[in-house]
This record gives sequence, structure tokens and C-alpha cells, in this order.
Amino acid sequence: RQAYVNGRYQPHSDAAVHIEDRGYQFADGVYEVVPVYNGILVDEDLHFDRLDRSLAELQIEEPMSRPALKLVARELMRRNGLSNGFVYMQVTRGVAPRDHKFPKDSRPALVLTTRQMKPHSPQVLAEGLKVITVTDQRWDRCDIKSVSLLPNVLGKQAAAEAGAYEAWQVDGDGMVTEGTSTNAWIVTGDNKVVTRDATHSILNGITRITLLELIKAEGYSLEERSFSVAEAQEAREAFLTSSTSFVLPVTQLDGKPIGNGHPGILTGKLRHHYMDYMQ
Ligand code: PDD
Repeated sequence: RQAYVNGRYQPHSDAAVHIEDRGYQFADGVYEVVPVYNGILVDEDLHFDRLDRSLAELQIEEPMSRPALKLVARELMRRNGLSNGFVYMQVTRGVAPRDHKFPKDSRPALVLTTRQMKPHSPQVLAEGLKVITVTDQRWDRCDIKSVSLLPNVLGKQAAAEAGAYEAWQVDGDGMVTEGTSTNAWIVTGDNKVVTRDATHSILNGITRITLLELIKAEGYSLEERSFSVAEAQEAREAFLTSSTSFVLPVTQLDGKPIGNGHPGILTGKLRHHYMDYMQ
């Protein structure tokens, strides 16, 4: 298995960046996780659009042109024989002596890796996932896909320790923002699909964007708005989305069953629509 590091393909096992990379010292960088499904990079232009936006918001230069980056991603997939999984891309502000302000003459550092992924287990699809809630401790620019992920790491660890898959983060008003690495959705008693509107409080997931389009095209009723933990607790269904989860049912929140405790019917339909879309 190989990785791409600053212009070179190297064995993954000893690929390394410099100790004074600002990603390492300051988490001064951004990333993308692009799903690969049956050999295809799913929604790759939406991922590249979001990468460009994250870079622009942090005034980090683009490390190379989009066509060049697409070629590197494909070459790495080829070398690694990747047909199902994801490509991880990370851009940091580069290497410079440690000093908080932007360095004058650093070049952005670019790393790509791939990871193979197995299909989601039939058990997860049949039983759904457990989710806990945690306080959202993040900053007010969660729309930037920054590698600064400590609150997300702590939330996911808390979930794991509680035997759950994900933690839904809750803002100061008791409203769910999103998971630590996924967007959060519920289906209300009158079959409305609800997910938080894409402000600076959440990462606007590419899976979220595409699923919203599919929901509109299928004519399901939809509300992009905040929902509280209490509303989620009483929802008929719940699910989460991401580039690695696609659409996965949530059947338990803080130890209490959601709806009848089984994966929702509409959730199942939306998962199918999304899987069909990726084909
Ligand atoms: N996480 N919200 C957060 C905080 C995320 O980190 C992610 C993605 C999402 C879903 O976005 P998308 O649909 O574009 O994957 C929402 C990636 C998968 C990760 O950190 O591994």
C-alpha cells in the first residue's frame, strides 16, 4: 500500500511529514474523505469544491490544480487496487519554524492515503446504531473541514465507551448540531425528514447535500431546521449520513429506543435511494 506525500508515492508504512508541519503543530490544515464505490470517486467535484472553500476560508494556497489532484487520487487508487473505501486528502499550511502567525514562504503540504472498506454489516442495517448525546464543544466555524478535531475525537471516544457508534453534539439551546463525523437526521411522526440547516454550526456533508436532492426528487417532505434532543427522542425514525456511513439507521438515543426501536421504513428507502445513486 502506498501514500502520496508532497509529490511522491511512498510505501504507506514509512511515509512521513516533517516535524514542523503546521498540521502537526497547530492543526493548521484541512481534509476531505472522498468515498470510492465500485471504483468510482463519489461526488468528487462536490468534495473538491468543499476542499477549495475550506482552503480559501483559512487562506491556505491550493497545493495543485483540480485536474492534477484528480490524477493523483486515481493513480493512488490504481497503485493500491482500491475499488471500495475512500481517499483521504489533507492539505496543511506547510512546514515552517513554529510561530503562530502565517509563515511568509511556506508551501502547502499535501498528503493522500486510501483505505479499503467492507460493506456495512447486515447486523447494523437490521438493528440500527446506538447514539449518545454530548455537549458541542467546538468553535463557531464547523463549516470548515479542519483537521482540528479534538472535540470530535473526545465525543467519539465517549460514544465508544458507552457502547455507541456516534455522539450527537448538542448546542447551548439543547439543539442537536451533528455527529462527530456524521450529519444527524430524524423523521417526525408526520413523516417529515428533518436535518439541521447548513450554517457555520455544522459541516455541510456531501452525503447530506446529495441526499437532500434525492429527497426532493422523490417528493418526500423535508425541513432543514434545528431539532432538539427531546424531539429526536420522540421521533419516528432517525439516521445519520457521511462518506463512510452513507445512510445508516439510528435506533437508540441515550439508551432509549427511537420509534419502535427498529430501523425506520423511510430511512431504509432513503438508504436504497442513496445506494442506487452511487451505482
Ligand atoms: N467526516 N459532520 C462532520 C463533523 C464530519 O466530520 C463529517 C465527515 C460529516 C459528513 O460529511 P460527508 O457526508 O461529506 O462525509 C458531517 C468524515 C467522513 C471523517 O471525518 O472521517
